[in-house]
Amino acid sequence: MNADTNTQLRRYRIASVPGDGIGPEVIAAGLEVLEVLAARNGTFVLDVDHYDWSSERYRKTGAFMPDNALSLLKEADAIYFGAVGAPDVPDHITLWGLRLPICQRLDQYANIRPTRIFPGVKSPLRGVEEGDLDWLIVRENSEGEYSGHGGRAHVGLPEEVATETSIFTRSGVERIMRFAFGEARKRPRKLLTVVTKSNAQRHGLVLWDEIAAEVAKDFPDVTWDKELVDAMTFRMVAKPKSIDTVVATNLHADILSDLAAALAGSLGIAPTGNIDPERRFPSMFEPIHGSAFDITGKGIANPVGSFWTASLMLEHLGETVAAKILISAVEQVCAAGILTPDLGGRATTADVTRAVCEALRGSNFAPGGENIPAV
Ligand SMILES: NC(=O)c1ccc[n+]([C@@H]2O[C@H](COP(=O)([O-])OP(=O)(O)OC[C@H]3O[C@@H](n4cnc5c(N)ncnc54)[C@H](O)[C@@H]3O)[C@@H](O)[C@H]2O)c1
Repeated sequence: MNADTNTQLRRYRIASVPGDGIGPEVIAAGLEVLEVLAARNGTFVLDVDHYDWSSERYRKTGAFMPDNALSLLKEADAIYFGAVGAPDVPDHITLWGLRLPICQRLDQYANIRPTRIFPGVKSPLRGVEEGDLDWLIVRENSEGEYSGHGGRAHVGLPEEVATETSIFTRSGVERIMRFAFGEARKRPRKLLTVVTKSNAQRHGLVLWDEIAAEVAKDFPDVTWDKELVDAMTFRMVAKPKSIDTVVATNLHADILSDLAAALAGSLGIAPTGNIDPERRFPSMFEPIHGSAFDITGKGIANPVGSFWTASLMLEHLGETVAAKILISAVEQVCAAGILTPDLGGRATTADVTRAVCEALRGSNFAPGGENIPAV
């Protein structure tokens, strides 16, 4: 962040990487909304660097990103990312070509995934309304099942073998547990569920459980429990109110957070932040959904996930009032029934974006944010 001495404006440099599929559609919508919000607020400016890193770039040049990509990103205050994945490029090439190198090399080890039911949005769960499902899933984002360790031997022969090794380090597990207990402590219920599978995964996940118990001693005000990942899926569906903050491994949280998004109405709503809590490097913010080939180019992608993502990014940058104003505007629009088809509505991406911009322009929130509804 830079302060503009002439205008007193706070300036942030944002690296925008829309990527593939609906990524460019929802990131363009998000940047439009952010511009309106910044103009309306008058206290900060976003200087956006646009990067075309994508599968299209890979097809043309053989690389998703240029060689100096990480140094370019390190100059940013935050990264605003769309999605990566194309029908004609294998998924492991796209993921390991763009998103994972950014998360791993910038040590964004804490992935946060809030989920809740917005006003006007229906959960597929019977009798579950707004307020009944309000979760924060914390995903270990640097090792575990996605550490990239493994290989293949005897390729193409009948005895071919492939290994996929999960890595759990004491420092890696301890830092994500400390982060998760800390996040649970910030929320009103101060309740954390540690998701595990230590009955079957008897090395890495036993270490995971042991470290959870050790770290818990430093957070006596946080109530915590432990749940096997399979039982957790049942609990999320059958007893959503019993859950608040959740911490899980890279793979487990990846799966649980898609379920969480669906239970809150749609994958198109949910945001995520890939966070470096120590702020050595910029953090990266993205909707949790992928490229969504089935709706790419149709103009119906739900932009709410990218708006909520933008709000998380502002919060991380310290613009907490603006972050709340943005979420309030999105809630107003959802409550008014301006919803894309994934939420049962008929609005287009452009309709929802326009409505959020109008809500922001017309909103009469006090400049200090005192009259912003609680979020
Ligand atoms: N972070 C990422 O970049 C990321 C995440 C997940 C998947 N992917 C990639 O995206 C590609 C497609 O993956 P997938 O089909 O498993 O998952 P996906 O999230 O792209 O789509 C799953 C379903 O959700 C719907 N959906 C997703 N976002 C939506 C939105 N904003 N509005 C309305 N509907 C939405 C899609 O139409 C589809 O029916 C693959 O190449 C995959 O590897 C990338």
